[in-house]
Amino acid sequence: MIIDSFGRRFQNLRVSLTAACNYACTYCVPDGKKLQAQSAELDGDAMARAVALLVDAAGISRLRITGGEPLISPKFDEFLRGVARLGLSDVAVTTNGQFLAQKIGVMKESGLGRINVSLDTLDASKYRSIARSGDLATVLEGIDQACAAGMKVKVNMVPMRTANIDQVVPLLDYCLLRDIELRFIELMNMGHLKRNQMYEREFVGMDDLLDLIRNKYEVRTTDAPFDSTSLRFEIPNQGRFGIIANESEPFCRTCTRLRLSSNGFLYGCLSSSKNYSIRHLLEEPYYIAINELQDVLRNAMASKQRLAFTGETTVMKFIGG
Ligand code: 5AD
Repeated sequence: MIIDSFGRRFQNLRVSLTAACNYACTYCVPDGKKLQAQSAELDGDAMARAVALLVDAAGISRLRITGGEPLISPKFDEFLRGVARLGLSDVAVTTNGQFLAQKIGVMKESGLGRINVSLDTLDASKYRSIARSGDLATVLEGIDQACAAGMKVKVNMVPMRTANIDQVVPLLDYCLLRDIELRFIELMNMGHLKRNQMYEREFVGMDDLLDLIRNKYEVRTTDAPFDSTSLRFEIPNQGRFGIIANESEPFCRTCTRLRLSSNGFLYGCLSSSKNYSIRHLLEEPYYIAINELQDVLRNAMASKQRLAFTGETTVMKFIGG
């Protein structure tokens, strides 16, 4: 097992099943063009094998399936069934929710109980101007069905100064009513945001966010687990919400994440474009693969930031956050 000088080890694996997405969110892509699959993406079986090897070689115990948009990938069902056999303590999916209702069956069958839905507004026309696609009512219906099926649903919102700051309280109301944990994600300076003024214009920090919420609710801080990215808050008698404060309270020191892209590269850090192909290892006998993975993992660990996210122009959109 690889452990660095801060005591960090890889525990959480995020797999981007495909780089393709049916949305083109403003903070993700610059020009409204939807992302396509990368060339030479691994098939569902190879990705499940990669996860199995990483469970053994790196000590991964938690898996999140991301994209692109994972639910549009034809690999989704096969991959999910493949990883369901690995005995991981936690498997979850991050989705834009457009095809959520159709996938609840296979998720339940595979024992997947947790999903995060990205939802930046409850206003249908704003929804389309941020996501540049999709249909809000279909997503809300998917969320209702997932809740009714007993799944644990969280909602991710990226608050932005001009695009949706007026939606912070309505989204919180919506989530509190349904016992859904809302997580505000501070806008990260990634991809095209680094090259234009959008980041400076749109960024809303934790303090401003809390001020807004405190206009309506009493807010108390709570403890979050050691490797949690999210600071958690309680609204007495009504529920909880979280803030992923990448900028205001960086959490690199306790980061346990490892990422696998859809074309078979490992990334040790969202703030670094250093990547390591493991495609060739997937064909090798188990012990050779595990052995070779140790060097790869050591390099991936060394690419982790020490203190804070510094930004990277290429990664987020296909690595899935
Ligand atoms: N900053 C913050 N969050 C982002 N996401 C995508 N791009 C960014 C960014 N630049 C969010 C999505 C999704 C999650 C995986 O990451 O909204 O909910």
